[in-house]
Amino acid sequence: GKLVVLTCGGGNGAHCLAGLASVRPDIESRVLTMYADEAERWAANLDSGFIITVHNDDGSIKSIKTKPSLVTKDPKKAVPGVDYIFIVVPAFAHAMYFEAIAPYIDDNTVIVGLPGQAGFEFECVNLLGDKAKRCTMVTFESLPWACRLIEFGKNVEILGFKDTLGASLLKGKECNLTKPIIETTQYILGEKPKVRHVQNYIAITLMAKSIVHPPIMYGKWSQWDGKPLSEKPLFYQGLDERQAELLSGVSDECVATAKAIEKKVPGLDMSDVIHVFDWYLNYYSDQITDKSNLMMAMRTNKAYDGLVHPMKEIEPGKYVPDFTYRYMAEDVPEGIVPMKGIAELAGVSTPYLDEVITWCQGKLNKEFLVGNKLTGKDLKDTRAPQKYGYNKLEDLFTGSFEVTPR
Ligand code: NAI
Repeated sequence: GKLVVLTCGGGNGAHCLAGLASVRPDIESRVLTMYADEAERWAANLDSGFIITVHNDDGSIKSIKTKPSLVTKDPKKAVPGVDYIFIVVPAFAHAMYFEAIAPYIDDNTVIVGLPGQAGFEFECVNLLGDKAKRCTMVTFESLPWACRLIEFGKNVEILGFKDTLGASLLKGKECNLTKPIIETTQYILGEKPKVRHVQNYIAITLMAKSIVHPPIMYGKWSQWDGKPLSEKPLFYQGLDERQAELLSGVSDECVATAKAIEKKVPGLDMSDVIHVFDWYLNYYSDQITDKSNLMMAMRTNKAYDGLVHPMKEIEPGKYVPDFTYRYMAEDVPEGIVPMKGIAELAGVSTPYLDEVITWCQGKLNKEFLVGNKLTGKDLKDTRAPQKYGYNKLEDLFTGSFEVTPR
């Protein structure tokens, strides 16, 4: 029979995935979107399908006409019989979808975080309970495309494909799947990006790009005098030495954590966890004009042209930073806090992470860190391993799940 693929979500990425999967004749593509009236609005237009406008690297444009078989907000209709579930929403909305699918999910389902963001597997296992042991979780390091909706339910635009994209598998010991997962995921996504199997989910977590925004926010705004600005400052192109040092320091701590884990846990390959500077040189090689150091690489990365700090306009022409934007609201609790949690389990000290988290949690009105320990009262609002009762490094790699060899 057909491979049944469910996309959870109704935003930019969800339209792309549901649309690309629908193009394959042997895939049945369904959509579950539970936010506001998205399902009604999208379903009302479904008969005429929708368009994916693809901007190719050579400047040409291709229109793909596509049509999922079902768009609904009802998990009872969407989930039974599904082989692959892709969760394509910002991390704060993951829990809602785990809870929605839990009662209806079959054994041997593959659950994909596209992207996963730090703590995806912890949250999935927590909310799916025993069922998770009969499933496999896949985490992608990012979204495969730079994309945006032109018109909801009618037209989504793909501005660019990544060349390659890392994905990890965490397999429930009672999950019996015969079809190879990385290959099947590749088939669903299409030719690009090339899916690269990263050996384990902790490596994916430690290389997540949620490390980028919080140090820059801290570096930029911690000494701000509170006076509104007359324009929105450039986020990447305005990077200064202090901000670059903070980001580099946080990245060093993630790499050190990976190395410590590799020493302590036999058979683990953490080689995918590389410094953010090396990552930029690998991923944006053609777009960066000055590769002399991290600060210059980010300032001269064409992919970042014109991107500004998240700002609120408090009166015409007067701007203040928006600390509720996802650079903080998502990238701290579902980003650098879980990384700090893993570093703590690995026994690695993290002065840079601690400094950044301490400032960010103040702006978010939360307490995650107390001194340099993750014992704050708001840890429950994060996806740190400690929240789920993982208190030793081995806890991350033992139990009902296995890291699958490449
Ligand atoms: P998006 O901004 O389009 O997501 C919005 C969707 O999330 C909504 O349409 C709705 O379905 C859901 N949602 C929003 N608020 C909700 C709520 N309160 N409760 C439940 N559901 C809610 O997200 P997008 O652009 O598809 O990105 C998905 C993830 O990929 C994000 O984590 C983003 O940071 C990341 N990403 C996006 C890129 C892009 O080009 N769009 C590029 C790289 C990463």
